[in-house]
Amino acid sequence: MSLSTQPYKGARDFYPEDKRIQKWMFAKLRDVVESFGYQEYDAPLIESFEIYAAKTGEEIVSEQLYSFEDRGGRKVAIRPEMTPSVSRMVAARRQELTYPLRWYSIPNLWRYERPQRGRLREHWQLNVDIFGVEGLEADVEIIQITDAILKTYGAKPDSYKIRVNSLKAAGAVYKDLRLDQAQHRAVAKLLDKRVRMSETEFNSSLKEAVGQKTADDLLEYWSKEQPPENIAALLNLLEKAGVSSIVFDPEIARGMDYYTDIVFEVFDESAENNRAMFGGGRYDGLVAEFGVEPVPTVGFGMGDVTLQNFLESNSLLPKLEPETNAAVILIGDVYGAVQPILSELRQNGLNLAVDPTERKLDAKIKNAAKSGVKYAIFIGEQELANQKYKLKNLKSSEEKELSADQIVQALSGR
Ligand code: HAM
Repeated sequence: MSLSTQPYKGARDFYPEDKRIQKWMFAKLRDVVESFGYQEYDAPLIESFEIYAAKTGEEIVSEQLYSFEDRGGRKVAIRPEMTPSVSRMVAARRQELTYPLRWYSIPNLWRYERPQRGRLREHWQLNVDIFGVEGLEADVEIIQITDAILKTYGAKPDSYKIRVNSLKAAGAVYKDLRLDQAQHRAVAKLLDKRVRMSETEFNSSLKEAVGQKTADDLLEYWSKEQPPENIAALLNLLEKAGVSSIVFDPEIARGMDYYTDIVFEVFDESAENNRAMFGGGRYDGLVAEFGVEPVPTVGFGMGDVTLQNFLESNSLLPKLEPETNAAVILIGDVYGAVQPILSELRQNGLNLAVDPTERKLDAKIKNAAKSGVKYAIFIGEQELANQKYKLKNLKSSEEKELSADQIVQALSGR
């Protein structure tokens, strides 16, 4: 039996046309976050199991973690999220770093999920975190960045919704209703799944978790639209920053255990994508888990799968051309003789793919056109002698005789 050509379940191959889209999306992400003063960092794919066991949340740790014993008998895990890694890095240099510290990264993350639209077993996730700001300004900035990212792709304000909640305010209500720790967790977990449950399903699971009376009180609390004080102040500041697609939503719970107050998720409003694209909030205690003084922190993660679905549903993905500017088609036996001129063109910024095969000229042209490259440059002995080369636009079939400089100008717009 031959080997399967399929990638591992729930994971993607990125053929060049797919990778090109990802590169385009990531370049815009980097531009936006760097414009707010964030610097890129990275960390290893594998971490010790313990850093997730502490605060990542029960569902991820017990059901979704890729964990194993390494050859030295250490319990390790492939990262399901970046937050523990970045907190570990900040803790390691707690004293030397300068605050506010603004860091971002785009790691590939792994979770053993049931693959479905918007959810895979691996995804790339932009992580943006600000360390060292206690005040609401950090929450404002982080949410402002989510809005700026979507706007940079051309998203309309009614195509997404930023939903914010205060876990402190929700915690006070749960305390009044006398929920114990286990019930509190069960409620948070149910809320996290609510968009994908029917109303009857949700209500009956809620009743099972907390009893009929408390379930009724909770449902009443969640139906309130009046935001608590800190959320009202946040909404006010964000309005001034031009963020309009935002609402108070007392049902936003978040799956991780480390969040301490304001949390948010950004939802795609298209009917076919009922998932959060961004999730984040304030987590003032995680850095201190590594044995140092606490550092107040706010951040979010945003996945590439849901972002791409959003951009596709809203027709915001451009048609991207291959990175190669031109196919070089050799006429006759000139492979060695063309090298100096090709080097010159490449040094001037052109990306050139030489066809070194023995195929007929016609076949070479067809092949170049099929590969998606826009231009072909023809070079034979005569062209080398005259220092003029034929440039053909493979889409329009227009041809020109040009010098090397002119080719650079025509292809790079310089
Ligand atoms: P999260 O809500 O688990 O948060 O993930 C953030 C985003 O990553 C989600 O909204 C979604 O776009 C994407 N995502 C998560 N899991 C998958 C999956 N299996 N397939 C596709 N996309 C997925 C966190 O991970 C936090 N660590 C974020 C954070 C950073 N909080 C503070 N700083």
